Amino acid sequence: MNTDISSPTSSPSSSQYTWAATFSEPVDQLVIRYTASVGFDRRMWRQDIRGSLAHARMLARQDIISAGDLADIQRGMAQIVGEIESGAFAWSQDLEDVHFNIEKRLTALVGDAGKRLHTGRSRNDQVATDIRLYLRDSIDDIQGLLGQFQTALLDLAEREAGTPMPGFTHLQVAQPITFGHHVLAWYEMTRRDVERFYDVREHTNCLPLGAAALAGTTYPIDREFVAAELGFDGVCENSLDAVSDRDFAIEFCAAASLLMMHISRMSEELVLWMNPRFRFVKIPDRFCTGSSIMPQKKNPDVPELARGKTGRIYGHLTSLLTLMKGQPLAYNKDNQEDKEPLFDTVDTLTDTLRIFAAMIPGLTTRPETMSEALRQGFATATDLADYLARKGLPFRDAHAAVGLAVRRAEELGVDLPQLPLSELRSFSPLIGEDVFSVLTVEGSLAARNHIGGTAPEQVRTAVARARQRA
Ligand code: ARG
Repeated sequence: MNTDISSPTSSPSSSQYTWAATFSEPVDQLVIRYTASVGFDRRMWRQDIRGSLAHARMLARQDIISAGDLADIQRGMAQIVGEIESGAFAWSQDLEDVHFNIEKRLTALVGDAGKRLHTGRSRNDQVATDIRLYLRDSIDDIQGLLGQFQTALLDLAEREAGTPMPGFTHLQVAQPITFGHHVLAWYEMTRRDVERFYDVREHTNCLPLGAAALAGTTYPIDREFVAAELGFDGVCENSLDAVSDRDFAIEFCAAASLLMMHISRMSEELVLWMNPRFRFVKIPDRFCTGSSIMPQKKNPDVPELARGKTGRIYGHLTSLLTLMKGQPLAYNKDNQEDKEPLFDTVDTLTDTLRIFAAMIPGLTTRPETMSEALRQGFATATDLADYLARKGLPFRDAHAAVGLAVRRAEELGVDLPQLPLSELRSFSPLIGEDVFSVLTVEGSLAARNHIGGTAPEQVRTAVARARQRA
């Protein structure tokens, strides 16, 4: 709970609450604290004011309030913006949430016009609108950061397009790839993430206002006008659904979960590659931390934490799914619980993307250690089998012959290209002098020269294609 929010010290008089007229006793202190959301929903104050101003403009346009009332509301809201920005605004827990806090202050500043603002509106459609506006803004920020992250990945892929490294399956050396190719695999993951966030934005960008509490309103409102004012693509078509739907928030958390899962996989690789047993990459010191006891330690805390925070994002997705599963239509107070998981997802994702976009350009590779690892893993064994198959040996037989050759190399403690031609020919007479160009890492890489392949040339053209799309 924020410390600059005044907590209930004495029971508020029943007149404090706009809804307290039918109450025979003051609300319990504990209940006030339990039901208040201003500690976390006040972060939506800009969206709340933006929504209120659009609603007020519509009310005036439809002659539901006067032009004078609108002017008063606009003047009061301008002052409130200044107060909140400067920190002078007195947030009060007694006033439950961001909506009541702002409305009460507006009324204190401009009188009756402030009380007219809520005509044809309920906090139910108001809060649903605020969250959608907030999430839309957040998605736009996230897309910007994702773009920076992608640029960093593409730059790295291009820089390392010709750097050989072992490709792994089962975390065992499999075949040579380039570091740039590996980075492009990460990039492809983020491409799908970008598309998912576009979809979520589309589903979010729909106006609930006008639904009022649940059934719509008796005033001659113009919902399309409000939608256009707020940059929504359209209005939520059913008033019950408009105030109840939180699918967009769940979708956002699902998209965030997938993105974090991707970042977590990258992180796991970075942690492994930084390990002295691998020594494939170096993360700049400013993204590492030390140990309080072991002076030699340099720990990859950033990727580790990103991996850890992924679990927390999955938790938020599960929270929201569970929050919604038992709710009858229409609005229920349960919905107030949608905000903290959503906000934390936005914050965690934003921080993670920002730090990764900054860290990736500083990543350096250690080509010697990666080549060394390639020499130890018989990484070109498949190339030898392909060579034999090209010479007419059925692939299965070629596979078996190369298996025997690998065994022999293992016995001798050498890599395949170090076996003398006479030795190699004992596994198949089809093997000739031309085999050695096939067994080199460079030959192996260059041979995979098709779209999606690891040849350095392909990596460079893939980067160029990606840049063109952006
Ligand atoms: N603070 C509430 C929320 O976050 C606003 C809507 C309250 N509506 C109500 N009928 N109590 O959901």
